[in-house]
Amino acid sequence: MAKEVTPTRMEKIVSLCKRRGFIFQASEIYGGLNGFWDYGPLGVELKKNLKDFWWQRNVRERDDMEGMDGSIIMNRAVWKASGHEETFSDPMVDCLLSKERFRADQVEEQTGIVHRLIGAIPRIAIFDLPQLPPEAWIRWLFPTALGSVSNVAELSELLHAGIRNQNQTCDEEVLLAAAEKIFPQIERYDFSVLVPTGTPEDKARKVGMAFYESRGVKNPVLIEHEVSHLPVENSRGYHAETGAQLTEPRTFNLMFKSFAGPIESEENMVYLRPETAQAMFVQFRNILDTTRQKLPFGIAQIGKAFRNEINPRNFTFRSREFEQMEIEYFCRPEDGLRLTDYWLEQRLRFYDDIGIPRGKIHIHEIPDGERAFYAVKTYDLEYDFPFGLSELEGIAYRTNYDLSKHIEHSGKPLDYFDEATKERFVPHVVEPSAGTDRTALALICEAFDEETLTDEAGKSDVRTVLRFHPRMAPIKCGVFPLLKNKPDLVAAAREVASNLRAFMNIFYDESGAIGRRYRRQDEAGTPFCVTVDFDTIGENGPEKQGTVTLRHRDSMQQERIAISDLREWLLARIR
Ligand code: GAP
Repeated sequence: MAKEVTPTRMEKIVSLCKRRGFIFQASEIYGGLNGFWDYGPLGVELKKNLKDFWWQRNVRERDDMEGMDGSIIMNRAVWKASGHEETFSDPMVDCLLSKERFRADQVEEQTGIVHRLIGAIPRIAIFDLPQLPPEAWIRWLFPTALGSVSNVAELSELLHAGIRNQNQTCDEEVLLAAAEKIFPQIERYDFSVLVPTGTPEDKARKVGMAFYESRGVKNPVLIEHEVSHLPVENSRGYHAETGAQLTEPRTFNLMFKSFAGPIESEENMVYLRPETAQAMFVQFRNILDTTRQKLPFGIAQIGKAFRNEINPRNFTFRSREFEQMEIEYFCRPEDGLRLTDYWLEQRLRFYDDIGIPRGKIHIHEIPDGERAFYAVKTYDLEYDFPFGLSELEGIAYRTNYDLSKHIEHSGKPLDYFDEATKERFVPHVVEPSAGTDRTALALICEAFDEETLTDEAGKSDVRTVLRFHPRMAPIKCGVFPLLKNKPDLVAAAREVASNLRAFMNIFYDESGAIGRRYRRQDEAGTPFCVTVDFDTIGENGPEKQGTVTLRHRDSMQQERIAISDLREWLLARIR
């Protein structure tokens, strides 16, 4: 199902996002901050349109849904109860050489020979020694034993042994002086390098030297382990490119920590929420009591979430700060499975309505054994991004796990009394949880197009166009006077723009040739542009007075429309 990966398309999208002010690297002038992004003037409009439409569909148009806006920082007890403090973590490994961090299960498996080292000494330590050249000293320093000597006398003994082995001689004092010089400079640290089958062995030496150099040993002479070569198969213990050793996996909690109050103590420790969902469980009772909803009903929330992702990647796809649009839909236990499928259908319809057709979304039902232990059914909705098929949203039937956990930890009654059946029970929940940033990125990827146009003279050029659904487009209509040095045209165009502004986002532009102005709006994804020309102001007679040229982004077709009809015409298409 996965399409061929097309990095150049993604690169073009990233570059367009920056060039046109959709998305910038956060803190860019200071070199950025990995995993954080800023939305520029067009990006913020796109994201706002997305969130507003989600809210409209899921909250305002339904009487079984209530909205809320919870705080980002909550009592730490919430995260203990939800299990995040204990389990919201990934097993991570670090590269001893590059210090890069990887998810242990995502490291590529390798087969080859592992070269084991136990330390190194700087070459200079054996350079200035008397009587013999450095090479001879290196030979005498029987390298393996060097790692285990614990004092100068032992080292001096070792040098003796080395000399005897090679039928050489050296003065006693010289050996002792050499041992005294060398001993403090031995850097002991186990390190190994995997050289994949078919790769030259010299790689191990180079990587080993780089490692000890990174620990401050200048021009290192490597000290090998007794068993210096070890064959391994399918190992995930080494860096995929350099072969440098990785640490053992360690769990790494993904929640950002901070402190509430002036004292940085364990008691005051708080987390930035890693999902918006928990606020909806924690406020379940208040919302039930204040709205008097009956099951089934839902709570919806849009807000920021923070995860200290190990490898933020694919532009905004995996960020450390992002927004979620989440629903917790509470129901009777017997309705859970049916409602999971109901929400799947609702969500597919939503994507279709914002310009991501059903056919572009892959429904991945998570098989038994791979779901969270409390989830009975889970669908992942995946979009075919240029970097591959990846998750946009999860729809999970989570039973009554969350409310039960909060009942257990808070001691508060988060159960439900059904008036009709006189039953008291803990409601079950279906959770459609979407990422705002991922959906915005999918909208941009889906909209991005490059079209080759050939003019009458046979000259071709490429038109870059974002074919957003008008509902999502950051700018709904561009308004231009044909010429900027004709005050009547400018005044009329400004009036058209100002009359539309209260109803939609308009872009007024009077600079450059009209064709270039259209192209600029094509790149911004503006579905419609109107141009005020001499016909509009009646210079060519009364027939077309009060009309403007309306140009369609996708077809580039133009038509005339009365200014008096323009607002309704546009509103009918952008809502
Ligand atoms: N309450 C359930 C929950 O948070 P999730 O699958 O971890 O489930 C839901 O997250 C959605 O949030 C994902 O489908 C994705 O769209 C978005 N999301 C999660 N982590 C993200 C990240 N690091 N960057 C951007 N979006 C992310």
